[in-house]
Amino acid sequence: MSYVKLTTESDLPAEGEAKEFEIEGKTICVANVGGTITAMDNVCLHMGGPLGQGYIEGNKLVCPWHGWEYDPKTGQLEDDPKTKLAVYPIKIENGDVMVEV
Ligand code: FES
Repeated sequence: MSYVKLTTESDLPAEGEAKEFEIEGKTICVANVGGTITAMDNVCLHMGGPLGQGYIEGNKLVCPWHGWEYDPKTGQLEDDPKTKLAVYPIKIENGDVMVEV
């Protein structure tokens, strides 16, 4: 695993928002909760909803299809924390957003 460039810092979601990005053939969900940027799998474990098109409520990312809630830092499903989406280390370097996939 190594860090690859995902996007530029200026293209990140605003605080309290999420966004989808394509990288290495997969789609990931980047969320901004209180200024903290996180990256996790984009596919909801319920029926595959696009999490990057969801919204942030408190510190949870809410699936746009039926409202399942995830912790974007850990990928944990709110109602069943043993159930998790993959999360990816993300960092910003010289205005570039780098993700380890
Ligand atoms: S697909 Fe995400 S809550 Fe149903």
